[in-house]
Amino acid sequence: MSRLIVVSNRVNPPSGKGDESVGGLAMALSAALRAYSGLWFGWSGKTAPEFSGQLSMQIADGVTVATVDLEEADVSEYYNGYANKTLWPLFHYRQDLTAYDRSFNEGYQRVNRRFAETLRPLIEEGDLIWIHDYHLIPLGRELRALGVENRIGFFLHIPWPAHQLVATLPRHKQLVEALFDYDLVGFQTPEYRQAFEEYVLSEVDGAIVDEARLRAFGKTVQVGDFPIGIDAAEFAQMVAGERAERTFGVMAAHTAFRKMIVGVDRLDYSKGLEERFLGFERLLADNPHLRREVLMLQIAPVSREGVDSYQEIRARLDALSGRINGEYADIDWNPVRYVNRNYRRDELAGVYRAAKVGLVTPMRDGMNLVAKEFVAAQDPDDPGVLVLSKFAGAANQMGEALIVNPNSPEEIADALKRALSMGLAERIRRWSALNEGVQRDDVTAWRDAFVKALAGEEEPRKPAEGPHYGEQARPLSVDERLLPDLGAEREADARTFGAAALRDPEARGDPPPLRLSTGTGRGLQVLGRDQGTLARPTRP
Ligand code: ADP
Ligand code: G6P
Repeated sequence: MSRLIVVSNRVNPPSGKGDESVGGLAMALSAALRAYSGLWFGWSGKTAPEFSGQLSMQIADGVTVATVDLEEADVSEYYNGYANKTLWPLFHYRQDLTAYDRSFNEGYQRVNRRFAETLRPLIEEGDLIWIHDYHLIPLGRELRALGVENRIGFFLHIPWPAHQLVATLPRHKQLVEALFDYDLVGFQTPEYRQAFEEYVLSEVDGAIVDEARLRAFGKTVQVGDFPIGIDAAEFAQMVAGERAERTFGVMAAHTAFRKMIVGVDRLDYSKGLEERFLGFERLLADNPHLRREVLMLQIAPVSREGVDSYQEIRARLDALSGRINGEYADIDWNPVRYVNRNYRRDELAGVYRAAKVGLVTPMRDGMNLVAKEFVAAQDPDDPGVLVLSKFAGAANQMGEALIVNPNSPEEIADALKRALSMGLAERIRRWSALNEGVQRDDVTAWRDAFVKALAGEEEPRKPAEGPHYGEQARPLSVDERLLPDLGAEREADARTFGAAALRDPEARGDPPPLRLSTGTGRGLQVLGRDQGTLARPTRP
């Protein structure tokens, strides 16, 4: 039985009920998986005294989720260490925050090997394997070492930085060589793909075979750019839902006679939150007449608390929001409303809709799905304005936003002023163009484009000509054989068993295996992490 296996560090079981979920990768895969009734398989977010390879399994909203525990040392060296103290800051151009420690790399290689060993018994001939993000770059190589000859693809959700930066990483060639064990490597934007090509040409003496193929280390790999999108159809449903409307009503009442600017981001230094606060402060300082007219709501749930730089940015933002409120607040007005909680997605939809301006100003970002969610949530007859950083991957597709340099408080303040006073006709014109792209280049288009290229049915996308490449990213028709067999969905209780048992669950008296797409029976499997177990503030 031929299937599609998808692998990522974080797992976020789809609920289909608008539940909270933070992080673009989990959001997108959750949406992509739902339609397939697939299986999501990875780190549970829990630790065990010793790694055992024991899998926990559950079915949520038609998607089977299988997770595995890691050891404490794995979490500190692999997740907090190499992934989030080394690769994340470096790939977001924060060399000052990048820590190199040999034990991090050892933990990173070890966990990738463990994931490969856990996954190996589940792989069958003809399965397609799709691996996600910077946590798992060596996973393809580890699977090859275990004799896996299936087609394996890798997609990087974060930027690929300039080659001079990658070259500062000890053993960078080893890391990049691992990418040549994949059949297909995908990036968010043409810029990131080109940066990878430049690395291959200048650092390892590689060659461009043709528009879609690179050769180095004696191997050839296909490359392409596959801009990720949101589940636009689901978002439209949520916006029209009762909870979104209720939240919209509450927000509208609380901001009566004032215009709300909204930001929604994980609390991460790459998101440009300090610079954003400074830009808003500049707006207030330079425009006394606006002071009681506007307020900024920043929703920023804490993230990666095991990493010092995340604790530090949290402390700085607490101080900065306090300082701005201290300086400008009045008895009946606080300019900054800063909250560190998670919200349900349908509540977020209501919040976006109540805002006049969406402020999305990362210093660097692979894509940024919040920008797309803000657009999808707007009222077509009275849409808000998106102010977007030129360094978000999304800026490549969303040229009708007000594009700013997030390093400049003046530019942010000017763009905010312009957005707050923009006339209806211009708002509708800009929003309509943005929304067309968000609807067209959605998560399904992204998934189908990648899977087709991985299956060898379609060449990866050609390099874009200009700053907008929405046309090239339009939905491709879905291969019949990859369509979900929705009739085969079934519910089951969460249960725990080992990898060997997963291959033959009926032998243990477990429910029968999922029957996926009639014809080939392809399903979707993901290796990742359980969102529910994360230590972050939850709603009361
Ligand atoms: P990243 O993946 O770097 O966090 P993205 O903008 O691509 O950035 O994706 C963030 C995702 O997390 C979005 O889908 C957004 O709605 C979600 N999210 C962010 N903050 C919250 C929050 N406070 N509550 C619930 N979801 C959130
Ligand atoms: C970004 C990364 C994802 C990650 C997400 C949330 O989107 O590209 O791989 O899952 O942030 O981060 P976390 O560390 O909480 O998984």
